[in-house]
Amino acid sequence: MSDASNGLVVWPRLVTLEGGEGAGKSTVLAALRDALLATGAEVVSSREPGGTPLAERIRELLLGTSTDDGGHEAPAADTELLLMFAARAQHVRQTILPALERGAWVLSDRFTDASYAYQGAARGLDGGFIADLERRVVGIVPGLTLLLDVPVAVGLQRARGRGPADRIEGEHDDFFESVRAGYLKRAAAEPRRFHVIDASQPAAEVATQALEAMHAYLRTVR
Ligand SMILES: Nc1ncnc2c1ncn2[C@@H]1O[C@H](COP(=O)(O)OP(=O)(O)O)[C@@H](O)[C@H]1O
Ligand SMILES: [Mg+2]
Repeated sequence: MSDASNGLVVWPRLVTLEGGEGAGKSTVLAALRDALLATGAEVVSSREPGGTPLAERIRELLLGTSTDDGGHEAPAADTELLLMFAARAQHVRQTILPALERGAWVLSDRFTDASYAYQGAARGLDGGFIADLERRVVGIVPGLTLLLDVPVAVGLQRARGRGPADRIEGEHDDFFESVRAGYLKRAAAEPRRFHVIDASQPAAEVATQALEAMHAYLRTVR
């Protein structure tokens, strides 16, 4: 691990997948996991919001999939942000850091970048406040982030093929265009950490490119 200039600790064995709905994050994560396991490494796969029993409860509240969610009351934007970080704080302390500290790799389907894209770029909340929360309650940053970039309509069509939309998947197209632009802006600002993949390609090609990126990355961290 090393200290980034912004006060966050970089953990090389923390690898995150980012991208909009239906970009193929879960599909790629499974391929990366198998490749890492084949090297004999311990791998912990996780996701956000979620990754611990309590954080998974918060996920249900956030996505409106809970059976007891106060009559489907939608969270206000700030509530959504704070619930995301509450879940993330728990995820970091209970799951991610213990795994990293014992030398495991951690693959997370979404992490803090998602809050900059969804709650920042798309909901319009202040990026400085998000950065404060990141410093105060997260404190760590992945060594590698794969951003699966896909046109909004393509991703939504794939995601909707999976089943009924959750609260976030039911947002309007402008919201998802802002999410996509927010992610691309972050990737451009941190080109060493981010690797952007054109996820509109067939799944096999996306997986191949993700594996290539991870193997190239492994050569730099060993
Ligand atoms: N590159 C791809 N081309 C076509 N379909 C894909 C591709 N990647 C994933 N899919 C399919 O699209 C759906 C959403 O993929 P998923 O991995 O669940 O996306 P995410 O986790 O980013 O929301 C799944 O049914 C999956 O099989
Ligand atoms: Mg998924």
